[in-house]
Amino acid sequence: MGAEAIMVKNAQAIRLSAEQRYADELNTLLELDNANNKPQGWNLSPKLVRQFILGNKELGISRKFFGDDPLVDRAIVSLLGKQGLMLVGKPGTAKSMLSELLAAAISGDSNLTIQGTAGTSEDHIRYAWNYALLLAEGPTERALIGSPIYHGMQQGKIVRFEEITRCPPEIQDVLVSLMSEKQMMIPEMGQSVKMSAKPGFNLIATANLHDRGVHEMSAALKRRFNFETINPITDKNFEIELIQTQLNQELGELKSQVIVPIDVIELLVTTFQELRQGQTQNGTHLKVPDAVMSTAEAVNIVYASALDAYYFGDGTLNGGQIAKQLIGVVLKDNADDIKRIQFYMDNVVRERAKHSSQWHSFYQVSKHFWK
Ligand SMILES: Nc1ncnc2c1ncn2[C@@H]1O[C@H](COP(=O)(O)OP(=O)(O)O)[C@@H](O)[C@H]1O
Ligand SMILES: [Mg+2]
Repeated sequence: MGAEAIMVKNAQAIRLSAEQRYADELNTLLELDNANNKPQGWNLSPKLVRQFILGNKELGISRKFFGDDPLVDRAIVSLLGKQGLMLVGKPGTAKSMLSELLAAAISGDSNLTIQGTAGTSEDHIRYAWNYALLLAEGPTERALIGSPIYHGMQQGKIVRFEEITRCPPEIQDVLVSLMSEKQMMIPEMGQSVKMSAKPGFNLIATANLHDRGVHEMSAALKRRFNFETINPITDKNFEIELIQTQLNQELGELKSQVIVPIDVIELLVTTFQELRQGQTQNGTHLKVPDAVMSTAEAVNIVYASALDAYYFGDGTLNGGQIAKQLIGVVLKDNADDIKRIQFYMDNVVRERAKHSSQWHSFYQVSKHFWK
């Protein structure tokens, strides 16, 4: 089978890259940009990179990252310098999303990505060889299979390194010399053969706080990065707006067929924020579940509930459907979490159910599941 037959055509892909999804917005910004103030190797000037991520209503640029605008400024400034950018935080705080958006805006390409795992090897970071060609013609450029970092250096682009702390420490350390020297030696081709990075090359790494300690990063590597911690969204209205936007994107054509009352989204956001923070709006203390309850999980819940409402219900989302979906997301395998949520249902939700129909249907359905 030829390579084309295996590749999914763009139009059919489930998920397009950021530069494809936002091609129109990026074109608008590109046309506006004045070449004079673009850093070397950058597709867009830093101010417009900022607008791409934080939005500009007049230009029709949507806001994509919510919550911490100064963090975005600092991230852009980091990438202008010699240091790499390390985004750390809990799962689902948009670390990957932000790194993808930055790469799309700065380099027009967010696909140079390494996924860190326990099995990530030096070859994934540097280069490997096509052995058939290596035997036939020796260590030629044709026989070399470059890693995303290799290509990023060669083309002067941003490279993303996801979940870097999942890699073994010796692999993390390969990065130290690459980041400080900004060049890659290729000893197989000759003693002093090396590839030097073009301007525009830099690295954005992401790391989950949950994984920390598994492979604690070396001090040497830490010094090569500016760290930015992303926190979960705490502003309720921001989170509601974000969920609505993302729900509409996910629903696509179904959007006009399902009614999603705002008080249902508010119910979900309230539940998530209270459980995340370990405290209700009135100050009642709660135990924080171990399960990840990020905005991303909230979007998944509303989306699944909307499908439930459309295919099995009357087309209008209600609190009961949210309760059903909450189970699968929050309850993985942790018995203590069951008790924590039960406490919340019995003490907080039950009270609210007396005064609100959405909370009432949320309570009724959850009672059924949590008992
Ligand atoms: N501050 C935020 N701004 C915009 N979207 C967010 C924010 N926090 C979470 N999200 C949503 O959560 C999703 C998950 O983010 P992701 O980048 O996969 O998280 P992470 O890499 O931190 O685990 C994002 O795609 C986005 O839909
Ligand atoms: Mg991620």
